[in-house]
Amino acid sequence: MSLISWIDFDVIGDARGSLVVLESDRNIPFHITRVYYLYGLSADIPRGFHAHRKLRQVAVCINGKCEMLMDDGKSRQKVVLDSSSKGLLIDTMQWHEMHNFTEDCILMVLASDHYNESDYIRNYEEFLNEIKCDDSLFE
Ligand code: TYD
Repeated sequence: MSLISWIDFDVIGDARGSLVVLESDRNIPFHITRVYYLYGLSADIPRGFHAHRKLRQVAVCINGKCEMLMDDGKSRQKVVLDSSSKGLLIDTMQWHEMHNFTEDCILMVLASDHYNESDYIRNYEEFLNEIKCDDSLFE
């Protein structure tokens, strides 16, 4: 599983503007069960700081800009989300943090399942431990 996985959406555009279509199991690689969005964010208040055991998500910055730090327990990388025609896959067991939101940022997230707090790993040490346990199953 690669740490950074972008999905490029087709843009249907004409003189009236642009239209992007997101569909379960087509350009989104799972069944979309939940959609949520973040807005009214502050540059100096990062969010996220967790991983999910089973949940898969795609984040799309539909307005403004922010940075996403992705970490799979082996490497970490920061990417910029600033395009409404590109989604970033946040797969299972990927620690992620959102930083440096612009005031106008609207971050939409498509999720494969309902909200379930027990799917969250909010402690980084716990995340690393669970990654190591998963890896040892395949050794
Ligand atoms: P959280 O996932 O911690 O936000 P972020 O990763 O953006 O910092 O969620 C913030 C709060 O919102 C937390 O109390 C859980 C609640 N929440 C729901 O009730 N349903 C949802 O679908 C989501 C994403 C969060």
